[in-house]
Amino acid sequence: MINTRETIENIFQQLVIPSGKRLDSISAAEGMFIHDWIKDHQLRATLEIGLAYGASAASILSAHQGLHICIDPYQEKNYLNDGIENLDRLGYGNRVRLHQDLSRNVLPRLYSEKAQFDFIFIDGDHRFDSIFVDFYFSDLLLADKGYILFHDSWMRSTQLVASFVRNNRRNYKQIRGAGLNLILFQKSGANVSSWDSLKEFYTLRGLLTQILVRPIIRLLNR
Ligand SMILES: C[S@@+](CC[C@H](N)C(=O)[O-])C[C@H]1O[C@@H](n2cnc3c(N)ncnc32)[C@H](O)[C@@H]1O
Repeated sequence: MINTRETIENIFQQLVIPSGKRLDSISAAEGMFIHDWIKDHQLRATLEIGLAYGASAASILSAHQGLHICIDPYQEKNYLNDGIENLDRLGYGNRVRLHQDLSRNVLPRLYSEKAQFDFIFIDGDHRFDSIFVDFYFSDLLLADKGYILFHDSWMRSTQLVASFVRNNRRNYKQIRGAGLNLILFQKSGANVSSWDSLKEFYTLRGLLTQILVRPIIRLLNR
């Protein structure tokens, strides 16, 4: 029987990614974590914000047999459809639905259509306000006991949104052990915050990481 490592290594070998762009995608280790989490918890309805070359989408699609919804406004313009072509080549094309629009437009549409997901991966526009809006709508779209996974926890913006969730959403529990660059939460029940409550969520966590990691990423991307 083929194991997770073989599955993900095989997928990553087949992904066509232009040179110098490898760091746009999750790592193989992150792909293995995502694949195992979805498979082990039998999560079937999945959503992802930020498709790029399809590395995370393929890790998700290889873990279940259902549909995977992706949101990315720049798949054609910036990625020349490489992500979709990678998924087609891997045999996942018929189980992917891509919305080529900004997440802030698509997420409320999905909500008004009463869509619900078990697993949502947030890896789109990495500015604080965008991640916050992605979380806000993802929460509305997430089934009870479902999971939200943030990528790029080295970024201060991601850390701040995670800190907001930890401090202000008592119906979310952070699950440790997702890996250095991922932050995983599980939802349990409805939002119980009162209308006039807001707990301070400013955190220095991540400030040093961002200062240290950013120059390394710039160097590797040259
Ligand atoms: C870091 S890449 C995603 C990598 C991908 N998750 C993977 O690991 O294979 C970020 C992606 O977010 C997309 N993006 C940027 N702004 C967005 C927005 N407002 N809504 C949805 N996607 C966005 C970009 O086009 C890019 O493809």
